[in-house]
Amino acid sequence: MVVRTVETISSDELSRLLQEIRETYGYDFTQYAEASIKRRSLYFMNTHKLHTVQQLREALLNDEAVFEDFVRNVLVTVTEMFRDPLFYLCLRSRVMRRLATYPFIKVWVAGCATGEEVYSIAILLKEEGLLNRSIIYATDINQHSLHQAKEGIFPMDLMKAYTVNYQKSGGQKDFSSYYVAQHNAALFDRSLRNNIVFAPHNLASDQSFNEFQLILCRNVLIYFNQSLQNKVVNLFYDSLCMFGVLGLGNKESLLFTEKANHFEAIDAKQKVFLKTS
Ligand SMILES: C[S@@+](CC[C@H](N)C(=O)[O-])C[C@H]1O[C@@H](n2cnc3c(N)ncnc32)[C@H](O)[C@@H]1O
Repeated sequence: MVVRTVETISSDELSRLLQEIRETYGYDFTQYAEASIKRRSLYFMNTHKLHTVQQLREALLNDEAVFEDFVRNVLVTVTEMFRDPLFYLCLRSRVMRRLATYPFIKVWVAGCATGEEVYSIAILLKEEGLLNRSIIYATDINQHSLHQAKEGIFPMDLMKAYTVNYQKSGGQKDFSSYYVAQHNAALFDRSLRNNIVFAPHNLASDQSFNEFQLILCRNVLIYFNQSLQNKVVNLFYDSLCMFGVLGLGNKESLLFTEKANHFEAIDAKQKVFLKTS
């Protein structure tokens, strides 16, 4: 008998499953964007040969290793160095001089995945002569990604694309001066890490932990529903100093959040905002 995997999961089935996951493991995906989590769950069922929602439920709730695999599949880790170069160009030309006015600069990269964005901002701060008086907190819910981020080792075959991104972002140096090639890997300059603290932080449930001049949270809010987006923007608002800067991903926005009127766009297209009240 050929058993085919279901092609849809109903909203009720999904919501029950996410609540059971929360009760069993403490991971709260109940406020993630429904369409995205359904798509990821169906993909997971297909790759794990789980044909019904009940089979998915049993596999996730009875086997922690399967659940961890599911978490990795739900938490999309796609990232790049100098991703969306014009965003970084905007940081270089319009945000760095603002940061330079502070004696000590605190940056939070929330949802940093495997760290490419963190090393990019560290390079930018270094080129502006600001890195040695900065501290960058790089956080993510995914410990596995954080571990990779800490290593600062990225595939060598991506360096060509990252060099192009770096140059488009206004970078003037030889990008290869920031890493050492070892076999197929690029080992990033250890000194870039001196001012970076990597730590787990769950945007859905954890609190603010400092006051920052710059927060980057790019391509994370898109995975959350409107209510969680609102909660996380409130968290960023509370974590920014007055006239602190918030950078979001290019598909993300402050519209429909309670704090929308407390920010002004430094560059609306690049999603760079200033906290003004
Ligand atoms: C697509 S990646 C974005 C990486 C990077 N910010 C960028 O723009 O290239 C999304 C990241 O958000 C993280 N994430 C998802 N839910 C989270 C949560 N509740 N708290 C913290 N990070 C979360 C995922 O683990 C993943 O690393």
